[in-house]
Order: sequence, then structure tokens, then C-alpha cells
Amino acid sequence: MKVTRITPFIGVEITGADYADLARPEVWDEVVNGVNQHELVIVRGIELTPQQQIELAARLGRPVPFVISKYRHPEFEEIMISSNELKDGKPIGVARVGNFWHQDSSFVAEPAPYTMLHGLNVPSTSGHTKFANAADVYDRLPEEWKARLADRIGVHTVAKRLRIRPEHVGLSVAEFKALIDIEHPKVQHPLIRKDEFTGREYVYGSREYMDSVLGFDLNENEEFFALLDRLIHDEEHVYTHVWSPNDLVIWKTVTAYHVATEVEPGVGRTVHRVSIESAEAEVRPVEEKVQ
Ligand SMILES: [Fe+2]
Repeated sequence: MKVTRITPFIGVEITGADYADLARPEVWDEVVNGVNQHELVIVRGIELTPQQQIELAARLGRPVPFVISKYRHPEFEEIMISSNELKDGKPIGVARVGNFWHQDSSFVAEPAPYTMLHGLNVPSTSGHTKFANAADVYDRLPEEWKARLADRIGVHTVAKRLRIRPEHVGLSVAEFKALIDIEHPKVQHPLIRKDEFTGREYVYGSREYMDSVLGFDLNENEEFFALLDRLIHDEEHVYTHVWSPNDLVIWKTVTAYHVATEVEPGVGRTVHRVSIESAEAEVRPVEEKVQ
């Protein structure tokens, strides 16, 4: 088994480990430290059953059932199936997930701190996942912007990315917008936060999951989003994960910006996703949310 840094700015890779290895405390510590200190851990090519994936997730916190029940794994409600594949003519999961740069669920008040993916059927020619470190993005902000953004509040929303569903047909645009505000109220987070594990400052927010920076006018907002996009997209500071079968990928949701790249036409791709709440978080009732 080998543990290596993937890039100087993000990620740790573990190769040659199987499920029994990860069960050993000293190996699991490498995973936990890796994700807490370097935002992202890739365990290459590890065969896992859905049950084993959930067991590993439970060692980081509390795996939570996916919000939309029809995309949950039929036997394991904690697993969300991200897939473009069909079974008996019906989608087996959610297609086109996360195809824009974001930090997971930043539009809710308390996002689950970790996300874990297991690649079941993954092409190596497309459908990559790109990662950038929000602390590294902060470090690269021009000094004047660090001063401008200190103590600012970001207003987060899922509205730009909410999908229109069949039951919305017939609503006016104004009615649809009003419905979004009720079902998915905007939330506020400090724009610059300090990571609890590394002590580093990081930018919390992205164009697609934000409405605005409180107190900025339209031009200032656009200037901020354009700068943020430039820093996040900078390929010298982006790690592109080219999947190999059975890769297990774990990241810290607040600091790991990521984006899923397109899957080429005619190619199937299926990944099992588990969202992991902090073990101390209040247990919330599972409800079906619309998204
Ligand atoms: Fe995501």
C-alpha cells in the first residue's frame, strides 16, 4: 500500500489498499487525516459492496439518506445513484449531476461535511471530476480583494440550478420564482471562513450556488464572480481525476470545489454517492425534498 500527495495544492492518493486494509485503524487514520488536511482522498481501485461503502462512510460521520427517494439505491437509502444508464427503459439514477463548479450543498444552512463517491462503471475517456482547493483560491486572491471580502457575507441559493419539473407546467415565471423562495430559502454564510482542521482561510461560495455578496451592487458582484471563476478554473491549480474502476473518492465539502465533466455520448457511467453528516449533528427526520 502506498500513500502519496496528488498535487502540492490538493489531494492524497492511496493505492494497493483493499477493504480489509482500510479497516485497520492506522490505515483509516491516513484517510481521515488526508481528507481533513488535504481536502480530498482517492483510494484507487477498491472493490466495495454498497454495504461496505456505507460502513466506511459511517466511520467519518453519519451517512444520510439522499433527499430524493426515487434516486436512492433500492436497498440502501444512504446511497444516491449518479448515473446516465437505463434499466428496463427507466433511468437508474440522476444524470448530469454537478456539471458546474461548486461546493456541495453550500445553499443549505448546514451542509454535510463529507461526500464519498464509489465509481462502479466509469469511463476513463470522459466523465472526469475536477477539483480545486478553496484555501488555495483564497491565497491567490489579490491583496485588495482579500481586504474587500473580509467580513463579507455571501447569499447562497440553489435557484440558478433548480430543475423545472413536470408539475411546474402552467406556472408563470413569477409564480415559479415565488415557489423556489418558499421551498429553498436563500441562506447566508461568511464569504471568507477558516478551516477547522488546517486553520487556513478559504473562500466559501461560487457563482452557480450564490445569489450575491451582501452589500455589493450588480457590477461588484459580477467582478467578484469573474475573479473567482478565473481563480477556480486555473488549470495549474486544478486536479483532474480520471476515474479508474472502483475508485473511492472522498472530499471535504466546504473546501473542495469540484465539477463533473461531460460524459461522451453513448457511454454509460454509474457512481454511488454518500453524503456524510457530522456524527454530532442533530438527527433530522428524512423528508422528501424537491430538487
Ligand atoms: Fe458536488
